[in-house]
Amino acid sequence: MELQTPNRMAVNHKKVIVRVDFNVPLEEYRGKWLVKDDRRLRDTRRTISYLLDHRAKVILISHLGRPNGKVIEKYSLEPIAEHLRHKFHWPVKFLPATVGEKVEEAISSLEPGQCLLLENLRFHNEEKDNDAKFAQTLASYADVYINEAFSASHREHTSIVGIPKYLPSYAGFALENEVQTLSNLMDKPKRPFVVVLGGAKISDKVGAIKHLTKLADIVLIGGATANNFLKAEGFEIYRSFVEEKSKVKKDELDYTKVASQIIATHKTEKVLKDGYLPLPKLLYPIDVIAASTIDVSRKKDVQVIDLTHNMQDEEENVQLFYFDIGPNTRKLYEEIIAEAGTVFWNGPMGVWENPLFAAGTKAIAKAIVSTKAKTVLGGGDTIAAAHHFNLEHKFKYISAAGGAALEFLAGRNLPGLKPLIKN
Ligand code: 3PG
Repeated sequence: MELQTPNRMAVNHKKVIVRVDFNVPLEEYRGKWLVKDDRRLRDTRRTISYLLDHRAKVILISHLGRPNGKVIEKYSLEPIAEHLRHKFHWPVKFLPATVGEKVEEAISSLEPGQCLLLENLRFHNEEKDNDAKFAQTLASYADVYINEAFSASHREHTSIVGIPKYLPSYAGFALENEVQTLSNLMDKPKRPFVVVLGGAKISDKVGAIKHLTKLADIVLIGGATANNFLKAEGFEIYRSFVEEKSKVKKDELDYTKVASQIIATHKTEKVLKDGYLPLPKLLYPIDVIAASTIDVSRKKDVQVIDLTHNMQDEEENVQLFYFDIGPNTRKLYEEIIAEAGTVFWNGPMGVWENPLFAAGTKAIAKAIVSTKAKTVLGGGDTIAAAHHFNLEHKFKYISAAGGAALEFLAGRNLPGLKPLIKN
């Protein structure tokens, strides 16, 4: 997919409306909201600087959270404008309005090389409804549209699919880079291509698991996502968290059945490791770290469960939750990752926030950054874990797009990318 990125002719001295994804975590400190993680803001840097250098008048639009058409103070974008001014030294003004006379006035008084951030698009239901009038109004503020919000491009919202109907449209540099990186991962990964999937919820990644399992040489599963696979294979998971069913378009989807189907589809595909050890293409833990409550703080309350042995349904086992992959799984996964040509990782292996359940996620993160492989890390929780272990900077590519990246990796066409394709 070749996307059209902006050039000098297109933006020089023009009014450019840029859809960014400033949906970032905020925290309250002494009555003020502060940006907790500014990765998504940093990702827009190249595009915004390019526009400011070309004396464009830049109008930034974004959503924050899900205020459902209501004006809710904690979802205001004002703290973001402050962060951009103070941390990035961008000439950003903020306006507590998204459309209307005040916006028109503010835009007409913008100087070339200045930037205006409008208020949260989702304070208006028209954003989510992909309302034509709302799209026309926003489009009327600019000469050119840029989408620099890959992470929101799976939404059929006004600012993603509506505005580009009325303006020449381009892909921001970070969006284009993300699409190229994820496309390369799927189209021409250096082999062996190892996919590591974890996290709490399988529902987020069913499509990506299915599609990536077809493309990858081997898929390593961890986190609570692995519980569906263990359950599907008849292992006892006791009280461990497992996402059972979801109502998708009124159809009941049983995730353990889905896991079972995925296992069945790939059952006969084997991976030859070291030339002699045949491994199934899809691996889930062979041992786990378990405890009877998440709040344990003593090592002696934690145990390793070897899933390759029959377990007795003793009373203390019945109380168990699985909170991390075990040492043998760690070793196996590390050995596989060490030989990879490409690694894609989404989702922690366990509850890494508790040091007693952090070893699996830490070992995987370390193994990935120690390979010479092309490494791509995706998803908010995974980035937070890599950051926690001080390894974030060692990944070759980090995708801050959660749902959009998983949909893209599931092989779906994201509606927001269509208007940006080069003719
Ligand atoms: C995200 O954080 O994944 C994007 O900003 C999209 O947010 P949404 O899921 O609320 O549409």
